[in-house]
Amino acid sequence: MPFEPILISNIAAMTCYEIAKIIASVRIFNMALYQTEREVSPEDLLLFAEHFGLHAPSDYKFAEETGVATLQPGLGPETSRPHNNQELDWHTDGYYNSLTHQVHSMIVHCVTPADEGGITSAINHEDAYDMLHAINPEYTQALEADDVYGNCTKGKLADLIWGPVFTKPNGRLHMRYGAYARGEWKDDPVVNAARKALDDILNGPNPNVHTFKMDAGQGIICNNVLHRRTSFEGDQRKLYRVRYEQRLVGT
Ligand SMILES: [Fe+2]
Repeated sequence: MPFEPILISNIAAMTCYEIAKIIASVRIFNMALYQTEREVSPEDLLLFAEHFGLHAPSDYKFAEETGVATLQPGLGPETSRPHNNQELDWHTDGYYNSLTHQVHSMIVHCVTPADEGGITSAINHEDAYDMLHAINPEYTQALEADDVYGNCTKGKLADLIWGPVFTKPNGRLHMRYGAYARGEWKDDPVVNAARKALDDILNGPNPNVHTFKMDAGQGIICNNVLHRRTSFEGDQRKLYRVRYEQRLVGT
């Protein structure tokens, strides 16, 4: 199945066929790109998520009462990268959360794209893991250690939450990673080599990296895959984002 937008008529009340298409994509890529022609509200996104067993949105930063965050330059703190128009390097969402409140799935819906820039790249984190493991199994092992990567929301060293990059809750891979972030890494030669190899996997030519610019009405639903965003012009780009602590059911 190619990775391309799946047409959905009404995101809040999907057909079985549409649900099956999304599930099939997520089983292969850990993500699905969708296209809807109707205007989508934050409440519609929550109903969309419920088709995949996702309830109780979990967003500790910037979410409004509904649990859905609106991301647009000028709407949030200027220093907040999701709210400004700077480049965002490779990351999974919520890597700075406590280990008990990690993000396992999310939806990012584009209301209005930027005229220039704002291009997304994404890779199934399981593919990144497999590629790293194939280079050297010690690399993935090193990144599974409990003391390998520290990060936090407050940017203070004393508040760092240390934990693994890769975990396998219920046998399914979860990744906690921010290439640009104010994180600290364990000072260890194997960890350093693993980070370099992962960097090469993500930034070198890689057929598993999908690059696309979300158009109005398009969005991505995923099991928190690795992603990045290029910088963009102006302040019209508007996204809705909702996060969950569960994976999509059936994927
Ligand atoms: Fe993100």
